[in-house]
Amino acid sequence: MKIGFIIHSQSGNTLSVAHKLMDQLNIQGHDVVLTHIKDEDVNNSMQHPERLVTVVEEVKSNVDVLFIGGWVQAFSLCRGLNHYINHQLNIQAKETHLFLTHHFPFEWMGGTNAMKQLSKHVLMKGHVVKTTKIFNWSRKNNQHHIKQWVDSMLTQLKALD
Ligand SMILES: Cc1cc2nc3c(=O)[nH]c(=O)nc-3n(C[C@H](O)[C@H](O)[C@H](O)COP(=O)(O)O)c2cc1C
Repeated sequence: MKIGFIIHSQSGNTLSVAHKLMDQLNIQGHDVVLTHIKDEDVNNSMQHPERLVTVVEEVKSNVDVLFIGGWVQAFSLCRGLNHYINHQLNIQAKETHLFLTHHFPFEWMGGTNAMKQLSKHVLMKGHVVKTTKIFNWSRKNNQHHIKQWVDSMLTQLKALD
């Protein structure tokens, strides 16, 4: 299957989650493509969300499965990904999975609100959102949760093959 990842990541947390799943999907022989974007503004001032840097751009046409990953910025969806989805997301997928990373240990400390925003924007682009996941980075067992998510995604994707 062709599996795409569109990831907004400034300091690498969100990208690291994507890579854990991508590594396994590559081992299984899938055609995995990544687009990694980040804000031009390294100080995260939130002034110009439209000023995006494209680090890697491989997701250029429709895919079977799409993962969109971002992070929580001031209790909301990071502005850069918000802008990208509304203005630049122009591919479709049979199904789309969403995930977010944030610092705090509980989802209600920003993650839940940001995920609502992300889901809404992606649905408005005509995507079928299959799953959503929030990673609470300062929780002790965060890495365990990432592994569990990777395993559950691999199981779900196997059923599509
Ligand atoms: C400007 C700024 C605002 C942030 N606001 C929040 C927040 O409201 N809630 C939260 O839990 N984490 C917040 N964080 C932490 C990030 O969401 C977290 O570190 C995330 O994993 C970063 O993802 P990245 O490494 O992929 O860029 C903020 C970080 C920055 C730089």
